[in-house]
Amino acid sequence: MTNQLLTSVQDSLQLTTDVTPIAPTAAQMQKIFGTLEQDLPFCEDSAFKGMLNFADNLEEPIHRWYYYKEGYSHRLVSQVLKRYPRPNGYPGVFDPFCGAGTTLLVAQQHNLPAVGIEINPFATFISQVKTNWHKINPIKLKNALNRIIENNNINCSKLPALTTFHNEKYFPNNHAYQLIHLRESIRRCRTTTEIKNALLLALTATLEDVSCLHKDGRALRYHPRDVISPKEALHRRVMIMLEDLESIQNRPHHEVTVLKGDARHSSLLLSKKINIDHFGLILYSPPYANNFDYSEVYKCELWLLGMLNSYEQWKQLRLSTFRSHPSCNFPITHYLKEDPELREIYRLVEQTARCQNIGGTRAYKRAPSVIRGYFDDVFLMLKEQKIKLAPEGYIVCVVGNSRHGNLHIPTDAIIAKIGQAIGLELVEIYVAKYRNDRKNKNQRLRESLVVFIKK
Ligand SMILES: C[S@@+](CC[C@H](N)C(=O)[O-])C[C@H]1O[C@@H](n2cnc3c(N)ncnc32)[C@H](O)[C@@H]1O
Repeated sequence: MTNQLLTSVQDSLQLTTDVTPIAPTAAQMQKIFGTLEQDLPFCEDSAFKGMLNFADNLEEPIHRWYYYKEGYSHRLVSQVLKRYPRPNGYPGVFDPFCGAGTTLLVAQQHNLPAVGIEINPFATFISQVKTNWHKINPIKLKNALNRIIENNNINCSKLPALTTFHNEKYFPNNHAYQLIHLRESIRRCRTTTEIKNALLLALTATLEDVSCLHKDGRALRYHPRDVISPKEALHRRVMIMLEDLESIQNRPHHEVTVLKGDARHSSLLLSKKINIDHFGLILYSPPYANNFDYSEVYKCELWLLGMLNSYEQWKQLRLSTFRSHPSCNFPITHYLKEDPELREIYRLVEQTARCQNIGGTRAYKRAPSVIRGYFDDVFLMLKEQKIKLAPEGYIVCVVGNSRHGNLHIPTDAIIAKIGQAIGLELVEIYVAKYRNDRKNKNQRLRESLVVFIKK
């Protein structure tokens, strides 16, 4: 951290200590954050306009095979590749939170070697199927689909243990059973693994077409509506796949590797599994500190594909995710506290976690540990990325700020400070979007690209 920035953080903390030794108000914290942000290189123009949501991808071949709401646009990746060039000799692109594989697919299309890591087995599966599109034979896919649709002989009546599947309100007209029949039919179909996986992905993509469930913000909500039969929905989804495979059959592509694993321990995993020592670009969007639990929102997909078979396994999956939500009791760590270089940032995070206006009684109990755990995890992920980043290579972290109670947390600025403290050079904080705060219409939350370079 430069002296100037250090002084600025120290001033802020001094202010905190002077004004509120125990629990600062949101207004006091906002002042502290304001001081913190003064020296940071924020910039803003329209280069990334409209690129922070997945909706854009619904028109794009392959990307549209599964609607992963929390992903970003394929155009963002192309823009980043242009704006932050990879140093000579380091063409590799790494996404440690690869989700549905947007970064990987675009890198592949630019003929660049790409590697992704993802903790959620369903998201890992989406990325694997999509980046293996070139191994899917369209004629075999169509034949397999026809056989599956015509097959009425499977007799399997065991639903997954997840209670959601047992509720007729969510899955009317016996649709839960029909989904399981289709899954079994796909599993038993005599065809290649790539074709089976493509069909299974298409089957998960039908979930919102055949049920009265809707992914809405942080939850899966009951949304009564007309549904179509699982067979018809599957047929439609596979037709889209076939159309895409035909339209891009001659597109160049590089081999992509997708690993199931933890971004907070990525360097070891990469060293074991990948023969790329250093990456020229690390581009990703981590979970935001907004209480969103991916294992909850994608639970039907996880259970339908047999990636979860018990509530205990579900709990274990939750426990292995980034600490961005309060759905389980994560272990407590003290990484920021223990590192002398990070002591000032630790104190800032601690003040934030102790803020008295952090929400109602329930939130007041849960938010502090989310805030502490989240920034400890940020520290871990950045340290790991630094190890695998080439000299002169860029890290581009796409992140949104969040609100807890009346407190707006400038996640982008705090990530910038943590990166600097571990020895990365901060290039810019590129503000790409302002989201309206649902509760307070006058407030807007930034979504930014925090950009570092390794000197
Ligand atoms: C914002 S999404 C990334 C979306 C991605 N950029 C895309 O366009 O599809 C964040 C992802 O991080 C994953 N994740 C959560 N904890 C993780 C961890 N410890 N290691 C790796 N991935 C994790 C989530 O499952 C989620 O898919």
